[in-house]
Amino acid sequence: MTPPAEADAGVDWEALRAVAREAMTRAYAPYSGYPVGVAALVDDGRTVSGCNVENASYGIGLCAECGLVSELARTGGGRLTHFTCVDGRGEILVPCGRCRQLLYEFGGPELLLETPAGILPLSQMLPQAFGPDHLNR
Ligand code: THU
Repeated sequence: MTPPAEADAGVDWEALRAVAREAMTRAYAPYSGYPVGVAALVDDGRTVSGCNVENASYGIGLCAECGLVSELARTGGGRLTHFTCVDGRGEILVPCGRCRQLLYEFGGPELLLETPAGILPLSQMLPQAFGPDHLNR
């Protein structure tokens, strides 16, 4: 399913990607050598971003999306509407599976993701998602 045109209208994906690229330059990725930056629009017009932060204890490294959702909460919450992710070359990157789940919590199935295959709703990138609604059934 392609997203409704109006949901994407007027969104400056280039500008959002520029924020993600700037965030990527702050990544702490000495172990993988793979910096990542992310940025998203919030439903009240804010922009939030994040970079990956690794650790000598490899398994506890934080994906860039962790920083993004932390900034979302810290700056007032709200819902994510548009999201992009870039690698160390500034190229569009798909978020990892765990991070799709992180994004689902705060954007739901309609969150629009910029992917190498175009703008796609999270419902296509994380089909049949488990989410907060399941806990209330
Ligand atoms: N990484 C992210 O920050 N987000 C993703 O969605 C994909 C992977 C990071 C984790 C690790 O620091 C590095 O990329 C290599 O896997």
